[in-house]
Formats: sequence, C-alpha cells, structure tokens
Amino acid sequence: MKMGGEGKVYTLAEFSQHNNAKDCWLLIGGKVYNVTKFLEDHPGGDEVLLSASGKDATDDFEDVGHSSSARAMLDELYVGDIDASTIPTKTKYTPPNQPHYEQDKTSEFVVKLLQFLVPLLILGLAFGIRFYTKSPA
Ligand code: HEM
Repeated sequence: MKMGGEGKVYTLAEFSQHNNAKDCWLLIGGKVYNVTKFLEDHPGGDEVLLSASGKDATDDFEDVGHSSSARAMLDELYVGDIDASTIPTKTKYTPPNQPHYEQDKTSEFVVKLLQFLVPLLILGLAFGIRFYTKSPA
C-alpha cells in the first residue's frame, strides 16, 4: 500500500470522488480506507465494496459481522481520516433549521398576537353592545 497519504484528513467531498473500480475508498468508523487493490481479493466481492464507496460504509461493514481478521486488514488499507465537520450529522442539520424558525418568527408572532387580540376584541365588542343596548332602557 502507498503510505504517502497516511494520516491525512480528507473532506467528505474529496473522499467521495474515489468511488470507482480504479480508485475506491471506503469510509468506516470515520476512517478512510483505500480498497482499490483489495477489490478483487475481498471475499464478499468487489460489487459490495464499490456500492459502499462514496458514502459512510460503517453500517454496511458492521451489518456483515466481519471477523476480527477482516478488521485487522483495515489497518493496512488505512489512508487517513475524514474531516468530521464535512459529514452531515444530526447536529449539522439543526443549524439550517434555525434561520427558518427565525424567518417564520415575525409572521408567527403576528399570528399569535392576532389570536390573542381578536377574541379580546370580540369580547370587548360584546360588552360594548351589551352596555349600549342596556343603558337606554
Ligand atoms: C475495507 C473494508 C473491508 C474488509 C477489509 C473486508 C474484509 C472481508 C473479509 C476478510 C471477509 C471474509 C469473512 C470475514 O473474515 O469476516 C469479508 C466478507 C464479506 N464482506 Fe467484507 N470487507 C470490507 C468491507 C465490506 C463492506 C463495506 C461490505 C458490504 C457492503 C462487505 C461485505 C462482505 C460480505 C457480504 C461478506 C461475506 C462474503 C461471504 O461470506 O460469502 N465487506 N469481508
């Protein structure tokens, strides 16, 4: 294995370009593995490795229940880590939602204000009518 890239930190975009039979990387447990030369040796076949490339393959790898010797092979294929901040996670999904809420807040506030004021207005009107219809009598 080439060791030139070992320990490098890749962005998800950089990593996901290595997604073909001539250049195939896997992302397992936040670590990047170059499986290009391993494709034809993989007991589970090259197809599954290719379809697991370009995305987080942790679940795919774990679901098979790979043996400890399979796990030991990972060390030889390791080329680097993934920049965690480039991986969309649950916490990364929250910020894009926040501006939405803030944008909606003004109209939400107006609606809430109206929901509060309109019944009050009707109540006031009812009392007003009652007062004015009662007083002449
Ligand atoms: C660098 C990552 C991987 C390595 C080093 C690896 C290695 C191995 C090894 C050594 C086996 C033989 C059984 C064992 O020892 O557990 C195996 C089997 C298998 N692997 Fe992987 N594997 C990798 C990734 C994957 C991924 C991502 C998938 C699924 C998408 C996968 C699917 C399978 C399947 C289905 C078998 C069972 C084959 C059979 O029993 O006929 N492997 N793998």
